[in-house]
Amino acid sequence: MSLITLKKVSKIYGEERSIIKALDGIDLTIEEGKIVTIMGPSGSGKSTLLNILGAMDIPTEGEVIVNGVDIARLPERKLSDYRKNTIGFIFQSFYLLPNLDVMGNVLIPLIPYKIKEEDKQRAQYLLDRVGLGERGHSKVRKLSGGESQRVAIARALINNPKIILADEPTGNLDSETGKSIIELLISLAKEGKTIIIVTHDPRVAQIISENPLGKNIWIKDGELSDEPTYDMFCWDKSD
Ligand SMILES: Nc1ncnc2c1ncn2[C@@H]1O[C@H](COP(=O)(O)OP(=O)(O)OP(=O)(O)O)[C@@H](O)[C@H]1O
Ligand SMILES: [Mg+2]
Repeated sequence: MSLITLKKVSKIYGEERSIIKALDGIDLTIEEGKIVTIMGPSGSGKSTLLNILGAMDIPTEGEVIVNGVDIARLPERKLSDYRKNTIGFIFQSFYLLPNLDVMGNVLIPLIPYKIKEEDKQRAQYLLDRVGLGERGHSKVRKLSGGESQRVAIARALINNPKIILADEPTGNLDSETGKSIIELLISLAKEGKTIIIVTHDPRVAQIISENPLGKNIWIKDGELSDEPTYDMFCWDKSD
Protein backbone atom coordinates (compact mmCIF):
# COMPACT_ATOMS: atom_id res chain seq x y z
CA MET A 1 0.00 0.00 0.00
CA SER A 2 1.33 3.47 -0.79
CA LEU A 3 2.02 5.79 2.13
CA ILE A 4 0.36 8.81 0.49
CA THR A 5 -2.60 8.77 -1.93
CA LEU A 6 -4.31 11.91 -3.18
CA LYS A 7 -7.64 11.47 -4.96
CA LYS A 8 -9.13 14.36 -6.95
CA VAL A 9 -7.71 16.99 -4.59
CA SER A 10 -8.70 20.57 -5.34
CA LYS A 11 -8.02 23.77 -3.43
CA ILE A 12 -9.95 26.89 -4.25
CA TYR A 13 -9.12 30.23 -2.65
CA GLY A 14 -11.39 33.26 -2.65
CA GLU A 15 -15.03 33.31 -3.66
CA GLU A 16 -17.29 34.12 -6.61
CA ARG A 17 -15.52 36.47 -9.01
CA SER A 18 -12.05 36.24 -7.44
CA ILE A 19 -11.72 32.45 -7.36
CA ILE A 20 -8.21 30.99 -7.59
CA LYS A 21 -7.97 27.27 -8.28
CA ALA A 22 -4.60 26.54 -6.66
CA LEU A 23 -5.02 22.75 -7.09
CA ASP A 24 -7.27 21.27 -9.73
CA GLY A 25 -8.21 17.60 -9.28
CA ILE A 26 -4.82 16.18 -8.27
CA ASP A 27 -4.34 12.38 -8.24
CA LEU A 28 -1.03 11.23 -6.78
CA THR A 29 0.50 8.26 -4.99
CA ILE A 30 3.82 8.23 -3.15
CA GLU A 31 5.38 5.05 -1.78
CA GLU A 32 7.08 4.92 1.61
CA GLY A 33 10.83 5.61 1.47
CA LYS A 34 10.70 7.59 -1.79
CA ILE A 35 12.25 11.00 -2.32
CA VAL A 36 10.13 13.17 -4.61
CA THR A 37 10.63 16.61 -6.13
CA ILE A 38 7.73 18.85 -7.07
CA MET A 39 8.66 21.41 -9.71
CA GLY A 40 6.62 24.02 -11.52
CA PRO A 41 6.32 27.74 -12.21
CA SER A 42 5.64 30.27 -9.49
CA GLY A 43 1.99 30.16 -8.45
CA SER A 44 1.47 26.66 -9.87
CA GLY A 45 0.32 25.22 -6.51
CA LYS A 46 3.51 23.65 -5.09
CA SER A 47 3.33 25.15 -1.60
CA THR A 48 -0.44 24.60 -1.50
CA LEU A 49 0.12 20.89 -2.22
CA LEU A 50 2.85 20.66 0.44
CA ASN A 51 0.72 22.49 3.01
CA ILE A 52 -2.19 20.12 2.37
CA LEU A 53 0.09 17.09 2.81
CA GLY A 54 1.30 18.62 6.09
CA ALA A 55 -2.27 19.37 7.26
CA MET A 56 -1.38 23.07 7.42
CA ASP A 57 -4.26 23.63 5.00
CA ILE A 58 -7.32 21.57 4.06
CA PRO A 59 -8.44 20.78 0.51
CA THR A 60 -11.71 22.15 -0.83
CA GLU A 61 -12.42 18.73 -2.35
CA GLY A 62 -10.85 15.30 -2.50
CA GLU A 63 -9.14 12.76 -0.29
CA VAL A 64 -5.66 12.96 1.23
CA ILE A 65 -4.94 9.47 2.50
CA VAL A 66 -1.80 9.12 4.59
CA ASN A 67 -1.05 5.80 6.27
CA GLY A 68 -4.61 4.68 5.49
CA VAL A 69 -6.33 7.73 7.06
CA ASP A 70 -8.04 10.56 5.12
CA ILE A 71 -6.48 13.60 6.81
CA ALA A 72 -8.82 15.92 4.90
CA ARG A 73 -11.57 14.72 7.22
CA LEU A 74 -9.82 14.54 10.59
CA PRO A 75 -10.96 16.71 13.51
CA GLU A 76 -8.51 19.44 14.59
CA ARG A 77 -7.26 17.52 17.65
CA LYS A 78 -6.25 14.56 15.49
CA LEU A 79 -4.73 16.91 12.91
CA SER A 80 -2.36 18.38 15.47
CA ASP A 81 -1.28 14.84 16.46
CA TYR A 82 -0.72 14.13 12.77
CA ARG A 83 1.39 17.29 12.32
CA LYS A 84 3.42 16.47 15.41
CA ASN A 85 3.97 12.74 14.87
CA THR A 86 3.92 12.14 11.14
CA ILE A 87 5.35 15.29 9.53
CA GLY A 88 8.62 17.20 9.72
CA PHE A 89 8.79 20.55 7.88
CA ILE A 90 11.87 22.22 6.37
CA PHE A 91 11.74 25.71 4.84
CA GLN A 92 13.88 27.90 2.60
CA SER A 93 14.52 30.42 5.40
CA PHE A 94 15.34 27.83 8.11
CA TYR A 95 13.20 29.63 10.77
CA LEU A 96 15.69 29.10 13.59
CA LEU A 97 15.21 31.05 16.83
CA PRO A 98 18.28 33.27 17.39
CA ASN A 99 17.92 33.35 21.19
CA LEU A 100 18.28 29.57 21.48
CA ASP A 101 21.47 27.64 20.86
CA VAL A 102 21.67 24.87 18.24
CA MET A 103 20.48 22.15 20.65
CA GLY A 104 17.60 24.39 21.81
CA ASN A 105 16.49 24.86 18.21
CA VAL A 106 16.43 21.11 17.56
CA LEU A 107 14.23 20.73 20.66
CA ILE A 108 11.71 23.45 19.62
CA PRO A 109 8.93 20.99 18.60
CA LEU A 110 9.06 19.57 22.16
CA ILE A 111 8.75 22.92 23.94
CA PRO A 112 5.02 22.35 24.69
CA TYR A 113 6.02 19.18 26.59
CA LYS A 114 8.44 18.62 29.44
CA ILE A 115 11.83 18.09 27.80
CA LYS A 116 13.44 14.95 29.21
CA GLU A 117 17.05 13.83 29.29
CA GLU A 118 16.30 11.25 26.58
CA ASP A 119 15.01 14.05 24.33
CA LYS A 120 18.34 15.85 24.71
CA GLN A 121 20.13 12.60 23.89
CA ARG A 122 18.01 12.21 20.76
CA ALA A 123 18.75 15.85 19.76
CA GLN A 124 22.46 15.12 20.20
CA TYR A 125 22.12 11.94 18.11
CA LEU A 126 20.39 13.95 15.35
CA LEU A 127 23.03 16.69 15.46
CA ASP A 128 25.69 13.97 15.06
CA ARG A 129 23.60 12.58 12.19
CA VAL A 130 23.56 15.91 10.31
CA GLY A 131 27.27 16.53 10.98
CA LEU A 132 26.92 19.14 13.75
CA GLY A 133 27.58 16.96 16.79
CA GLU A 134 30.11 19.44 18.22
CA ARG A 135 27.92 22.52 17.70
CA GLY A 136 25.05 21.92 20.14
CA HIS A 137 25.96 24.95 22.26
CA SER A 138 26.80 27.30 19.36
CA LYS A 139 24.69 30.37 18.77
CA VAL A 140 22.65 29.84 15.60
CA ARG A 141 23.51 33.28 14.23
CA LYS A 142 27.12 32.12 13.90
CA LEU A 143 26.14 29.22 11.61
CA SER A 144 26.50 29.23 7.82
CA GLY A 145 23.41 28.74 5.64
CA GLY A 146 24.17 25.05 5.12
CA GLU A 147 24.73 24.52 8.86
CA SER A 148 21.48 26.35 9.62
CA GLN A 149 19.57 24.09 7.26
CA ARG A 150 21.17 21.02 8.91
CA VAL A 151 19.89 22.26 12.28
CA ALA A 152 16.43 22.69 10.72
CA ILE A 153 16.62 19.11 9.38
CA ALA A 154 17.56 17.79 12.83
CA ARG A 155 14.61 19.77 14.26
CA ALA A 156 12.28 18.24 11.62
CA LEU A 157 13.45 14.77 12.73
CA ILE A 158 13.07 15.19 16.50
CA ASN A 159 9.65 13.50 16.63
CA ASN A 160 10.80 10.75 14.26
CA PRO A 161 8.23 11.59 11.54
CA LYS A 162 7.56 9.25 8.62
CA ILE A 163 7.37 12.15 6.17
CA ILE A 164 9.63 15.16 5.63
CA LEU A 165 8.17 18.06 3.64
CA ALA A 166 10.71 20.58 2.34
CA ASP A 167 9.68 23.86 0.65
CA GLU A 168 12.68 25.15 -1.35
CA PRO A 169 15.23 23.75 1.15
CA THR A 170 18.17 24.84 -1.02
CA GLY A 171 16.69 28.17 -2.12
CA ASN A 172 19.01 30.24 0.14
CA LEU A 173 22.13 28.13 -0.37
CA ASP A 174 24.96 28.13 -2.89
CA SER A 175 24.92 25.17 -5.26
CA GLU A 176 27.58 23.04 -3.50
CA THR A 177 25.94 23.53 -0.09
CA GLY A 178 22.54 22.87 -1.62
CA LYS A 179 23.84 19.63 -3.11
CA SER A 180 25.10 18.45 0.29
CA ILE A 181 21.67 19.18 1.81
CA ILE A 182 19.97 17.14 -0.94
CA GLU A 183 22.47 14.32 -0.33
CA LEU A 184 21.59 14.42 3.37
CA LEU A 185 17.88 14.18 2.46
CA ILE A 186 18.61 11.25 0.11
CA SER A 187 20.44 9.46 2.95
CA LEU A 188 17.34 9.94 5.14
CA ALA A 189 15.19 8.37 2.38
CA LYS A 190 17.58 5.39 2.40
CA GLU A 191 16.82 5.05 6.11
CA GLY A 192 13.11 4.82 5.26
CA LYS A 193 11.86 8.43 5.52
CA THR A 194 9.54 9.62 2.78
CA ILE A 195 10.72 13.00 1.52
CA ILE A 196 8.92 15.53 -0.65
CA ILE A 197 10.88 18.53 -1.89
CA VAL A 198 9.45 21.59 -3.63
CA THR A 199 12.19 23.17 -5.71
CA HIS A 200 12.84 25.64 -8.51
CA ASP A 201 16.26 24.14 -9.15
CA PRO A 202 16.47 21.67 -12.07
CA ARG A 203 19.78 20.37 -10.65
CA VAL A 204 17.92 19.19 -7.54
CA ALA A 205 15.34 17.42 -9.71
CA GLN A 206 18.17 15.85 -11.71
CA ILE A 207 20.02 14.46 -8.66
CA ILE A 208 16.77 13.01 -7.35
CA SER A 209 15.81 11.51 -10.73
CA GLU A 210 19.15 9.70 -10.85
CA ASN A 211 18.52 8.05 -7.47
CA PRO A 212 16.72 4.68 -7.36
CA LEU A 213 14.43 6.05 -4.62
CA GLY A 214 13.79 9.27 -6.55
CA LYS A 215 10.82 10.54 -8.50
CA ASN A 216 10.08 13.90 -10.17
CA ILE A 217 6.60 15.40 -10.29
CA TRP A 218 5.67 18.44 -12.37
CA ILE A 219 2.83 20.83 -11.66
CA LYS A 220 1.33 23.62 -13.71
CA ASP A 221 -1.83 25.63 -13.06
CA GLY A 222 -2.72 23.28 -10.21
CA GLU A 223 -2.52 20.14 -12.37
CA LEU A 224 0.14 17.44 -12.32
CA SER A 225 1.93 16.37 -15.45
CA ASP A 226 4.40 13.61 -16.32
CA GLU A 227 6.68 15.92 -18.29
CA PRO A 228 8.18 19.33 -17.57
CA THR A 229 7.23 22.20 -19.86
CA TYR A 230 9.62 24.85 -21.15
CA ASP A 231 7.95 27.72 -19.29
CA MET A 232 8.70 26.07 -15.94
CA PHE A 233 12.27 27.31 -16.40
CA CYS A 234 11.60 30.72 -17.94
CA TRP A 235 11.00 34.09 -16.32
CA ASP A 236 7.45 35.36 -16.19
CA LYS A 237 6.65 37.53 -19.21
CA SER A 238 5.63 40.26 -16.75
CA ASP A 239 9.17 40.37 -15.23
N1 LIG B 1 -3.94 31.84 1.34
C1 LIG B 1 -4.17 32.12 0.05
N2 LIG B 1 -5.21 32.93 -0.30
C2 LIG B 1 -5.46 33.19 -1.61
N3 LIG B 1 -4.74 32.71 -2.63
C3 LIG B 1 -3.70 31.91 -2.34
C4 LIG B 1 -3.36 31.58 -0.99
N4 LIG B 1 -2.27 30.74 -1.00
C5 LIG B 1 -1.96 30.59 -2.31
N5 LIG B 1 -2.82 31.28 -3.11
C6 LIG B 1 -2.79 31.30 -4.58
O1 LIG B 1 -2.81 29.96 -5.05
C7 LIG B 1 -1.93 29.80 -6.17
C8 LIG B 1 -0.89 28.75 -5.83
O2 LIG B 1 -0.03 29.26 -4.81
P1 LIG B 1 1.21 28.47 -4.23
O3 LIG B 1 1.75 29.28 -3.11
O4 LIG B 1 0.82 27.08 -3.97
O5 LIG B 1 2.22 28.52 -5.46
P2 LIG B 1 3.73 28.02 -5.57
O6 LIG B 1 3.77 27.06 -6.71
O7 LIG B 1 4.20 27.55 -4.25
O8 LIG B 1 4.48 29.36 -5.99
P3 LIG B 1 5.99 29.87 -5.63
O9 LIG B 1 6.90 29.09 -6.54
O10 LIG B 1 5.95 31.31 -6.02
O11 LIG B 1 6.23 29.64 -4.17
C9 LIG B 1 -1.36 31.19 -6.46
O12 LIG B 1 -2.15 31.79 -7.46
C10 LIG B 1 -1.52 31.90 -5.14
O13 LIG B 1 -1.66 33.30 -5.35
MG1 LIG C 1 5.67 28.25 -2.89
